[in-house]
Amino acid sequence: MPTLAVIGSQWGDEGKGKITDYLAEDADLVVRYQGGANAGHTIKVGEEVFALHLLPSGIIRENVISVVGNGLVIDCDELEVELEALRKTGRSGKGLRLSDRANVVMPYHRILDGAEERARGSKTVGTTGRGIGPCYSDKIARAGIRIGDLLDEELLRDRIATIAPVKERFAESLGAELGLDQEALVAKLLSFGKKWEQYITDTSVLVNDAIKAGKKVMFEGAQGTMLDIDYGTYPYVTSSNCTSAGICTGVGVPPSAVGEVIGVTKAYTTRVGAGPFVSELTDEVGKHLQTKGGEFGTTTGRARRCGWLDLVVVRHAVRLNGMACIALTKLDVLNDLDTIKVCVAYDVDGKRVENFPSNVRHLERAKPIYEELDGWKSWEGSTAELCKRGYEALPQGMRSYIQYIERSTGVPAGIISVGKGRDETIDRRHKKW
Ligand code: IMP
Repeated sequence: MPTLAVIGSQWGDEGKGKITDYLAEDADLVVRYQGGANAGHTIKVGEEVFALHLLPSGIIRENVISVVGNGLVIDCDELEVELEALRKTGRSGKGLRLSDRANVVMPYHRILDGAEERARGSKTVGTTGRGIGPCYSDKIARAGIRIGDLLDEELLRDRIATIAPVKERFAESLGAELGLDQEALVAKLLSFGKKWEQYITDTSVLVNDAIKAGKKVMFEGAQGTMLDIDYGTYPYVTSSNCTSAGICTGVGVPPSAVGEVIGVTKAYTTRVGAGPFVSELTDEVGKHLQTKGGEFGTTTGRARRCGWLDLVVVRHAVRLNGMACIALTKLDVLNDLDTIKVCVAYDVDGKRVENFPSNVRHLERAKPIYEELDGWKSWEGSTAELCKRGYEALPQGMRSYIQYIERSTGVPAGIISVGKGRDETIDRRHKKW
């Protein structure tokens, strides 16, 4: 089966951009299946750095078809900004395909995102403010506008006329005002439809046909397992299924179409936004990881909270996603620490807990149970040269750390990343595609 899925094992800041781009080198199609412009995928190619939010990572390669699946929520203004930025680098974006069934993030969704956060008082989720939750809520409530609607003036007009008054009343109840000008909104959306008509299609047919034709298809997850609406740290999650199950509904492919799942896992843990984080470090070590790892959100610029690697989380992710292996990233950030801790279980009210709890209050009370491992020293010379020499060239302490993670999770570390560049990667997988 020539398909791969790349999915975050933690809270979405695992370095998926780099790994997805590395794997996309051989892909014919790169397909996103959930989320929206809340994602932040940083990709470094030579001296160029791309920060993508909505567009699939494949978009920086001219020969790749980049699919925005029906499971996404598309912010038309953001799409325009990203395409414009891409074109400035000399790339055409011609490989883009937008699902006609994807929902549209409307201008009022952003306003409602802010208003809902304010209404939560001290219990904010810490959203990216990009209208993601309100847009997905409308999709489920059958009050969404879909990309295909932008090509049908009569349908669009009718949908907006039905939905707008309800939204106005809801906003008022939260103390916000939408001031919706239905005519202006319809005109704006129709103009987007016209501009992008060439890209809009039934992407389920496109992707299934490509798989049947033996093309290499990569499914690109956004956010991460712990932000999954069902299996993350609910309610401190995003509003979509980030786990591999989301691929089927978010692209329109059967479960049998999902081949190897690769779980991108940072060598320590970070998260932005609010919510429980059992292995969080608020001390000097946490500060050190934040500074050395450059832990600031790609989308919002917020400082990420940092902590030791939480293996309860990674095991949860391996099981839920059916991960065949993990891609272990940012190991170099742990260089030069005397000792390194890993969280192997939680203590919840005196009980040892090995599986990730569903109850947020239990999580808030959970204390990490750590094991302590030896650290290792930085290497001399270039990291790319080190990687050329392969796994055995890595410091002994780092290899022991990797082996510990493999034993605990039950899956191999197929890819090891020790720097931002593509050549700062060691690929140990036997089978590629
Ligand atoms: P939303 O997705 O904007 O509704 O935000 C919900 C939660 O998910 C917040 O804690 C965000 O910080 C977090 N979040 C959303 N997208 C990402 C991402 O791509 N990486 C990391 N955190 C994210």
